[in-house]
Amino acid sequence: MALAQELKALAIEIAQEAGELARRRRTEGVEIAATKSAIADIVTQADREVEALIRARLAAARPDDGFLGEESGAELGTSGVTWVVDPIDGTVNYAYGIPTYAVSIAAVVGGADPQEWDAVAGVVFNAAIGELFHAAKGGGAWLGDRALAVNPEPTAAGALLATGFGYDPATHAGDLARIARVMPMARDIRRIGAASLDLAFVAAGRLDGYFERGLQPWDHAAGALLVREAGGLVGGLPGGRPGNAMTVAAGHGLFDELLAAAVA
Ligand code: IPD
Repeated sequence: MALAQELKALAIEIAQEAGELARRRRTEGVEIAATKSAIADIVTQADREVEALIRARLAAARPDDGFLGEESGAELGTSGVTWVVDPIDGTVNYAYGIPTYAVSIAAVVGGADPQEWDAVAGVVFNAAIGELFHAAKGGGAWLGDRALAVNPEPTAAGALLATGFGYDPATHAGDLARIARVMPMARDIRRIGAASLDLAFVAAGRLDGYFERGLQPWDHAAGALLVREAGGLVGGLPGGRPGNAMTVAAGHGLFDELLAAAVA
């Protein structure tokens, strides 16, 4: 617990500095530096710069830890702690000037295999508006100094849900079929564009649930800890290949129904 709180404090300090840098670069104008696996899978110079800052700060504070970042890849550590980082989650929003993007930093333990990682600290910094979501394992989930709790039950009128679409065009028909299956239980469905914020919003009770196929560890590591620490469930199907897993997050009253519809 003491270690988790210590790691969280470090992640908060670095996420705030990183978020400030992202926000400053955004006001200076952002250009797409490269397209990665698909037209929606982009990187800006700011993504790279912000990740470099986070990586340097972590290496200075905890040189023996491992690192996995969306933009700069993985490095094994020797301490048993690995940092899992998305410097700007919601890069498409960021590039287009939509103020909904986040710095996501998680500290995980449990060896080299991401399937076995256990997040012990997680921070999601909604940088454009300065909202700081944070959790340490066993210490609850927080928005600033306010304790968070998921909505335990969806309302009678249906649940407010969010989803996202994978980058691989071959999976889009499946994404749309999933939405059609889930729609009957929903009041409405959002596509917010930043998975870490989708999860943080479930933790805060702003959304009743969230489902998406194909997330990577840096998309969900911090947000999933927020949901669990806010009393919710996160699960799904393990991926048959990297990025193929299904992530579902919701309170206890909705989780099983949403999972069944999402993975049918
Ligand atoms: C993406 C966003 C998006 C989600 C994608 C993610 P990125 O992260 O979280 O909402 O649908 O699956 O890859 O590329 O903006 O860091």
